[in-house]
Parts: sequence; C-alpha cells; structure tokens
Amino acid sequence: MAVLAETGASHLPISSPSPIESGPVLPANRGLMTKDNIQELHEAFQSLPGVRRVEEGFEVEDIPMSIIATDGKYRDMEARLVLTNPNATTRKDKRKVNVGPVVFRGIKRFIPDNHESGEWRAAFTREDSDGVEFYDVKTVELESLHELEPIRGNFKGKHIISLSQFEREDLETVFAFTPQMKQICLGGLPSKILSGLIVASLFYKESSRTRMSTEAAIQQLGGSVVSMVDPTYSSEAKGESLEHSMLTYEAYVDAIVLRHGETGSAAKAGKWLKRVPLLNAGDGNGEHPTQAILDLITIRNEVGRLDHLNAVVAGDLSHGRTVHSLVQGLALYPGNSITFLSNDVLKLPEEYKRKIIDRGVDVREIDRIEDIPKDADFWYWTRSQTERYTEEEKALLGADWEKQFVVSQKVLDTYAGPNTILMHPLPINSKNPEVLREVQDDPRTVYLEEEIRNGMYSRMTLLALTTGRLRPNTLSSNPPLIF
Ligand code: NCD
Repeated sequence: MAVLAETGASHLPISSPSPIESGPVLPANRGLMTKDNIQELHEAFQSLPGVRRVEEGFEVEDIPMSIIATDGKYRDMEARLVLTNPNATTRKDKRKVNVGPVVFRGIKRFIPDNHESGEWRAAFTREDSDGVEFYDVKTVELESLHELEPIRGNFKGKHIISLSQFEREDLETVFAFTPQMKQICLGGLPSKILSGLIVASLFYKESSRTRMSTEAAIQQLGGSVVSMVDPTYSSEAKGESLEHSMLTYEAYVDAIVLRHGETGSAAKAGKWLKRVPLLNAGDGNGEHPTQAILDLITIRNEVGRLDHLNAVVAGDLSHGRTVHSLVQGLALYPGNSITFLSNDVLKLPEEYKRKIIDRGVDVREIDRIEDIPKDADFWYWTRSQTERYTEEEKALLGADWEKQFVVSQKVLDTYAGPNTILMHPLPINSKNPEVLREVQDDPRTVYLEEEIRNGMYSRMTLLALTTGRLRPNTLSSNPPLIF
C-alpha cells in the first residue's frame, strides 16, 4: 500500500490484475469519503496489514513507513490522507481517496480529519517529546514497507527491495547456492543459467563494486547486460519521469538492477514494474539488500555462524543503507547482540532499531570507541555518507566529526579480539579515512578480499533466482544441478 497525503485527492483506486500481488486490494470505485461510505472505507483501510482501528482513528504499527515530505515549513498543515492502489498501472487506477485519521507509531504521526470540508490538518507527535508539532507540509508520501512482497520460498518474478522481505529460510537458500556460483567463477566453468536473458543495470548514482559485480555476475551466468551509468545522457535529463523510464526499460529486458538517489525509489519502481524483477542496488538513505546479503555470507563464512554474534556496527548509521539492510538480516537469527557506535546525528534510525529489538536483537548504543565490547565477532565500519547530509546535519556535525571513529592498528589491537573480523562495505574515504591504510594487511581485515568477492557470487544467485532460472528446490537434487 502506498499512502499519500496531499491536497486534491479524489477517488479510491480500482484494482488491476498484476503478476506480482501485494497485499489486500481496497474496494473499487469509491469517491471522496463521505458520511455514507466512511464506514466501508475505514473497514478497507483497517484490512491493510499493519493497520489497526483505535478510538481516535487508526494506528499503523511498527512504523513500516518512510516519509517523503516536500514543500514543508511548518504550521497547521492542510492535507488529505489518501490511498493509491499498489497494483495500479494507469492514471485512472491511481485515483486516491481519503481514509480518515491515522496515528503512526514510531515517529507518531497523528492526522485528525475534517472530512466534512474534505480538508485535513495534521499534527505530528514525536515519540521523544510530549508536545505536538504542527507542519504545513503540502505533500506527504508514506511508503509502506508492508506492501513489499515477502519471498517465502519463491523468488521468481519478485522484486528484491528490502531485507524485510526475507525470512531466515530465504537467506539460507541464497547461501546454499552461492558456493556453486563461486565455483562457476573460480573454476572458469561456462554457465548458461541466464543465457538468452538481458539485464538492465541502471545506476543513477556512483558505484564501483555494486555495478561491476552485478554486470560481471550477469555475464558469468551467460546473460547479457545493457547499462546506464550516467542519467544525464538519458531522457530523464529532458524531463522524463522515473516511471516512464522504468516502463521503457522494462519493455527491453528480463530483469532490472537499480541504484537511485531517492529513498524509496526502488519500492516505487517495483510498483510500476509488472513484468520483470527488480533488484534494489541502493536507494538513497533506504536499503541495500544485495550488499547485506553479501555481508551476511561473509560473516557466515568467516565467523562460522549468523546467530549468537557479538557485533559492532559503527559510523554513519543514519544514512548508511547497507547497515539498514544488514541489521534486519541479523535480526532473523537468534541470540545476536549489536553495539552501535555513532553520534546523536548519525545514529541508527528509530524504525530499524525498533524492528530489530522486536525481533529479539540485544541493542546497545555507544558514542565512544573506548566503550566497544571486547572480543566482538565482527566490526562493521562505515563511511560518512556526506553526499546525502542535509544542511542541518552538516551544521550539527561540524568539520571534524569524521575523525571521531577511526580504526587504526592501535584501536584494532586494543578493542578487537584475535578472531574479530573487520568488515566495511567500501568505499573507504581516502581523504579522511575512517579505517586507516595501516590495518589493510591485518589478517582480521576482510573487506578487500572476501567481502567484495562475495558480492559477485551472491548477486549471481539473486539474479538466477528472481529470473526463475534457478529454483530453490533445485537444491534437493544431489549434487544440485545449477550449471
Ligand atoms: C555502499 C553504498 O553505496 O551504500 N557501497 C557499496 O555499495 N558497496 C556504502 C557506501 O557508499 O558507503
């Protein structure tokens, strides 16, 4: 479900058939909410996953939302809360409808209604304060993660947008195939798994490892790749929408890999794409599921397990999408403790923290290297994602913050154990390094060896599974026949 609050909403969407079903479909052909149909609309809204009726309106649980608020400067917002049909393909289907007051948990958002006049005033309450803040945001877009389709053992045709789509068994399926992908690469075995298929590699933002490993993965499996590495040479530079671009590319290829600067862009693109699977290769401050999977494989291989781990995750946890995905993966395994090392501005967003705590992860937050727990199983260090800082964040952080959490040989020797592995999704900032060059040859360092190689193997597996060329049940044959 995509929930949009904006001025000028009109109708309830009409359902359209989709090969990728996602969540319940709301009743068709409803007009603006009126006294007559409000009950029905409320019931429909209530039937969506994660939504609950409460006395004063609705509650959307577990903050499965990202908010994109535009046009905001604050006081007495007037907006309408509307729903769009996740399966809509035509403009007509995308008509929207008011649903009523909604309380969003987490960063609580309370939107009292005034459906007589058709206008909405919104007051947002934050979890960390008692007061109510008013915003005059004109367009608020709430992207529900609930609409992402769970994998549940079937990868074929599914978009991989977020680690929240995975259960432990789904991860285990990917892990089980990956050694064979490694064999294909290292043994120089010719593979035809993707033969006859074309994959679009669309990188709207910078990338070295994700793009190259994806394109190599496609070719290792006998597929072909068409790529876009510079959107200034695409028709979007002439003003075309992302939606039209996606629908265009979908007409030419069998799968799409997308990196984009906007948080939530992959989920949006996933809704437009009806025919081919999409792999999210990083969406703004959102998620980076394929990186998380390669990181999980690295931990599993190097530490020997994914449960009962003592982990340190450090750096820019706010904008670091690899962390957002990784921690959700770790939360699928029992007994894990994660110590997050960061500062107030860059700490892990509440929504991820809440989610993994709910799943049983033991979470600690620290802001000094000296407080790192001894003998962690792994350290996952990250770069400051300065390219996505807001002006306010820059001002709060000041010039020198990048020197706050630096791994030197001394830090590694003092706070890590002999078996701790040092991971990093890369790149390391060479001007202001968060991990010094001097630790590169330490045997505990895995980011230039295992971690980057696993990227190719795991992306091979994900592409083969989502295009349907590899089936999870292939694993039951002995030896599994994947070539
Ligand atoms: C990461 C990314 O792009 O999110 N890089 C990657 O894909 N390996 C991390 C980063 O840029 O810092």
